[in-house]
Amino acid sequence: MRLIIDTDTAGDDVFSLMLALRRPGVTVEAITIAHGNVGFEQHAENALAALEACERAGEVPVYLGAQRPFTRPPLDAAYVFGADGMSDSGLARTAQRPAPGHAADEIVRRVMEAPGEITLIAQAPLTNIALAYLREPRIARALKHLWIMGGTDNGVGNVTPAAEYNLYVDPEAAKIVINAGFAMSLVTWTETLRDGLLTLDQLAALDALGTPRAAFFTQVNRTSLAFAQETEHLDGSLHPDALTCAVALDEALILEAEMAVVDVETMGELTRGYLSVSNAILPDIEVADPALRRRPPNARVIKKIDRQGFYAALRDALL
Ligand code: RIB
Ligand code: CA
Repeated sequence: MRLIIDTDTAGDDVFSLMLALRRPGVTVEAITIAHGNVGFEQHAENALAALEACERAGEVPVYLGAQRPFTRPPLDAAYVFGADGMSDSGLARTAQRPAPGHAADEIVRRVMEAPGEITLIAQAPLTNIALAYLREPRIARALKHLWIMGGTDNGVGNVTPAAEYNLYVDPEAAKIVINAGFAMSLVTWTETLRDGLLTLDQLAALDALGTPRAAFFTQVNRTSLAFAQETEHLDGSLHPDALTCAVALDEALILEAEMAVVDVETMGELTRGYLSVSNAILPDIEVADPALRRRPPNARVIKKIDRQGFYAALRDALL
């Protein structure tokens, strides 16, 4: 599998990168940096730190992308991950530096040079993906598959009741990407709440592996674990990006999925970034309102994932 991962590298983004970087048979061709969780430059530093933690320093280029959303103000999530996105670990600056070239141009170049070969995991606001598509619409057909961590499946969001962070921060970019015609699968915040929790016992078992990568994981996960326990009243930490990467790397982990008509709200005052997901009892058809246009399903929405398989995949990455 040939992968590009677009990331606003903080907390769980790092664990997603580690899953891919440590998986035999997977080539991470490039890491592209988006705005999002914490400072833009810090996202690049954190991705470079993840490469070093996986003993891949210098082997995977890191490209800088869009530094803010198309029209909306940037939105920081340091309250979840710590100011540096790494639970304020004070990690040393790595020798590897970001590569020259813009993330969107690199996505276009690499996808168009290898049609049908590249899988893209989008685990950040979708600005870079939208820019790449606007730069070269043919990537929608040339990309093998687009995995998006984002939105909710008619569930509660994590920024507003309607919206999950990645779609809330740049809803215009999300709308462009969702309607571009990519072959795509979505792992939503709703699915993360269902199957993306690592319990305190599981986290203790990962730490007990005693490897440098396990210690790095525990260290980087501290602040988001504390946030999950204190604010979300959870018995562990949530891992949306790592969950998305785990199923992208091994679709056998998918226990239930459904093709649906999805779209993104950009005009709503209360529903900015809301992901509309049709379903069997509420199809996107004109029965309810003749003005509704029947549209073909445009995304596979993941509904259930093998939790033990997810945990095992992460454990293997930390050995
Ligand atoms: O809503 C969760 C998503 O927002 C994750 O990708 C997290 O890293 C943040 O970007
Ligand atoms: Ca992310």
